[in-house]
Amino acid sequence: MKHIKANRYENFSQTAAELMMNQVEKKPNSTLGLATGSTPKGMYKELIKHSADLSQAVTFNLDEYVGISSDHPQSYRSFMEENLFQHIRVGQTYIPDGEAADLAAECERYEQLIQQHGGIDLQVLGLGHNGHIGFNEPGTPFSSRTHVVDLAETTRKANARFFNSLDEVPKKAITMGIETIMEAKHIILLVYGEDKQEAVNRLLQGEVDEQFPASILHDHPNVTLLSGGVKVLN
Ligand code: GLP
Repeated sequence: MKHIKANRYENFSQTAAELMMNQVEKKPNSTLGLATGSTPKGMYKELIKHSADLSQAVTFNLDEYVGISSDHPQSYRSFMEENLFQHIRVGQTYIPDGEAADLAAECERYEQLIQQHGGIDLQVLGLGHNGHIGFNEPGTPFSSRTHVVDLAETTRKANARFFNSLDEVPKKAITMGIETIMEAKHIILLVYGEDKQEAVNRLLQGEVDEQFPASILHDHPNVTLLSGGVKVLN
C-alpha cells in the first residue's frame, strides 16, 4: 500500500483531485468509483475548481441509502449532484437505486452495469470509524458483491449529523461488496482528521481481518492511502 501524507485539508484534497485528474488524462473514458461523506468533499471542490474533464467518464457510486427517495436532501444522489454533478459535465453517472421495488435485482443490475463498462479503473474510498468501506460493516464477508446491508448503529449515529434526528437515518443501504471494490484497478483510500486516528492506525498495523473491512486493501496490488490531519504510525 502506497502512503501519501498531507497536512492541511486543502493540500489533501488537491492531491486527491490530482490523482483523479491524472486518471482521466491517461484515459478520458475512465470508469470512476466515487464515495460520499465529508472526506471527499474537498476533492470534488478541487475537481470543479480545475474544470476537470469528466465528460467521457462513467461514474459509479459506492452506496446509497434504502428507504429515502433519490431527491431527499440526504440521499447520496443528492450529495453527488450538489457536490459534483451539477458543476461539471460527467459522461454518465450511476448510483444504486435505493427505492427499487426488488432490491436484490437492483444489486445484480448494478454489478452487471459495472462489468458492462469494463470494471472500475479508479475507486475512491473513505474509511468508517469501524473500518467500513462503502457500507460494508465489520463482519461482511470479503467475498461479498453488491448487496443490501443493515447499517451498524455506530454508523447511523455517525451519519445522524446530516439528518434532523437519529430516527430519520435510514436503517438499510445498498453497497458495492468488498469483492466488487477489490476488482477496481486502482484504489485511493482517503482518510482525513483526528477522529480517524484509531481506524487508520489499525489499518496500518497490517492484519487482514473481516472485523475490520478496510484491512482487505492490504491484499490489493494498487492501493494509495492518502492521509491528512491525523498522526499515523508510519
Ligand atoms: C459513510 C459512507 C462511506 C464513507 C464513510 C466515512 O458511512 N457510506 O462511504 O466513506 O461514511 O465518511 P466521512 O468521510 O464523513 O468520515
